[in-house]
Amino acid sequence: MDGLTTALLTFPLFLCVLSTAAVGAAVPPVYVFGDSTADVGTNNYLPGTSAKADFPHNGIDFPHRRPTGRFSNGYNGADFIDTSSKALTSPPVAPASSILPEAQSLLSMQLKQFAIVSSNISARVGVESADKLLSRSIFVISTGANDMIAFFARFGSVNTTQRDEFVATLISNYEDHITTLYKLGARKFAIVGVPKIGYCPSQRSVNPNGDCIKDLNVYASKFNKATEALMRKLCTTNERMKYSIGSTYQIVSSIMENPHKLGICSIPHKLTSKLAVEAFYTWSAPFVTPITFKELVEDDR
Ligand SMILES: *[C@@H]1O[C@H](CO)[C@@H](O)[C@H](O)[C@H]1NC(C)=O
Ligand SMILES: *[C@@H]1O[C@H](CO)[C@@H](O)[C@H](O)[C@H]1NC(C)=O
Repeated sequence: MDGLTTALLTFPLFLCVLSTAAVGAAVPPVYVFGDSTADVGTNNYLPGTSAKADFPHNGIDFPHRRPTGRFSNGYNGADFIDTSSKALTSPPVAPASSILPEAQSLLSMQLKQFAIVSSNISARVGVESADKLLSRSIFVISTGANDMIAFFARFGSVNTTQRDEFVATLISNYEDHITTLYKLGARKFAIVGVPKIGYCPSQRSVNPNGDCIKDLNVYASKFNKATEALMRKLCTTNERMKYSIGSTYQIVSSIMENPHKLGICSIPHKLTSKLAVEAFYTWSAPFVTPITFKELVEDDR
């Protein structure tokens, strides 16, 4: 599963943050820590990564119909996240990551890089302003899927004890990462849950009969529930923490169960991504809990 994993925060992130810090704009900066589902083509600029999407049919639904580096036929979720306006457009970042250090790319490496960014901001605008800036920044994290896919590729179907242990390990590592970000000044967390990854074309293609891999959907569901519990717990010990969790799992389920109700005839990634981000902004439970991304952005307490 090396092909799905790659790391590194990219240079545009630094630019985004520093320029916003410099002008003191009211628009909160957005940091995206994500996996390939949130990559807007950053991998094109990373030397030595095997995670590539620079070949057809990736990009087929763009006007020029060429691959962009997104692991998608068109725009993905990261393209539609933008807290500055109602027009949903792309932030300039989308690194790829996984939670566990076994995988080729590490969320922990991204956090080390973010620690540098954070100290760079302090050096430039002073500790107090840097704290203020980070406390109103939105930290989008979309991760976990690569870990599950890698685990399944390695061990196949395992019994429930082993499965639960694996999910617990993921969550424990996730807790460390989120706590690290909090210590670095992050306060507002926009968590994107793991979708029904058993339906990913890449996964179905490795299943001899082409069907979805149900086990992976179970992992995703368990992980999402555990993430909710984790965030509730973290809020009791980190009192300035705020969060919203968007459920791509629920979005994908609703689309698959009743696409016409949502005005969708087939399920192109681009439409699904746009719908998901809109849902996280303005819909309600079970699609986004306990508050919406919009409320998270606007919460200035
Ligand atoms: C950020 O900090 C690192 C380490 O302290 C330093 O090497 C780098 O030049 C700084 N970058 C900027 C843009 O100030
Ligand atoms: C699950 O599988 C592991 C490894 O094969 C085994 O040691 C363990 O006893 C199994 N647990 C259950 C409840 O079947």
